[in-house]
Amino acid sequence: MILDLLRKRFSVRRFRDQPVPDDVLHEILDAGRLSPSGGNEQPWLFGVVTDPALIAQIAEAARGQMWIAKAPLLIVLCVTIVTDERGGRDIQVHRYPEYADIITQMDKGLYSALNQEEHQTKIAGAHMALAALERGVGSCWVSRFEVRRVAELLHLPEGTIPAEILVLGYPEEVRKPAGKKSLDEVVFDNTFE
Ligand SMILES: Cc1cc2nc3c(=O)[nH]c(=O)nc-3n(C[C@H](O)[C@H](O)[C@H](O)COP(=O)(O)O)c2cc1C
Repeated sequence: MILDLLRKRFSVRRFRDQPVPDDVLHEILDAGRLSPSGGNEQPWLFGVVTDPALIAQIAEAARGQMWIAKAPLLIVLCVTIVTDERGGRDIQVHRYPEYADIITQMDKGLYSALNQEEHQTKIAGAHMALAALERGVGSCWVSRFEVRRVAELLHLPEGTIPAEILVLGYPEEVRKPAGKKSLDEVVFDNTFE
C-alpha cells in the first residue's frame, strides 16, 4: 500500500555506496513520464546523472550541499520553456487578472524563469519519488541550486531550465519521519469559515 510506504518516508541525505540498478531506474523514469501536465504538454526533460565527478559539481552548485556528492544518482527535472509568442502567459493572466498588465509586460527571460513552476515538474518528480520508494530507493528534493550553473554543467539547450533535482539512492540509515501536521490542521470542509 502506497500509504504504508508514505507513513515511513523521510528525506534521505545519506546513501549506501550502491548504484541504483537499471531496471529500477527505468521504472522510476517511467513513473515520471506518465505524469499529468497542463494541456498534456509534457514540457520536461529528465537528466539522469550518475557520473560522480558531475554529481560533485552539481553539489557545489547546490550552495555547497556536499551530501549530494555521495549520492549514486541524480535526476534533474528540467522544464522546456513554452516557446509560443506569448510564452504561456495567458495561463497566469487568467490566474491573476489583477496583475495582467505586469505579467504581459514582463521581460520574457524573467517571466520564463519565474514561471517554471507552472510546468509541473513537481508532479513528475513526486511520481518518481514514489516509484523509487516502492523499490527501496530513498530520495530528497533539492531546489536550492544555481539554475544557470546546473544548466551549463548539463549542457542544456537554450530555453530549458533545471527546475528541481531529485537525489536518489539506497538509504544508509532508517530515520524517524519528520513530524507532519494533523489532518485537522490542514483540511477544511467546503468553506474555510
Ligand atoms: C520543493 C522542495 C525543495 C527542497 N529543497 C531542498 C534542498 O535544497 N536541500 C535539502 O536538503 N532538502 C530540500 N528539501 C527537503 C525538505 O527539507 C524536506 O522535504 C522537509 O524538511 C520535510 O522532511 P521529509 O521530506 O523528511 O518529510 C526540499 C523539499 C521540497 C519539497
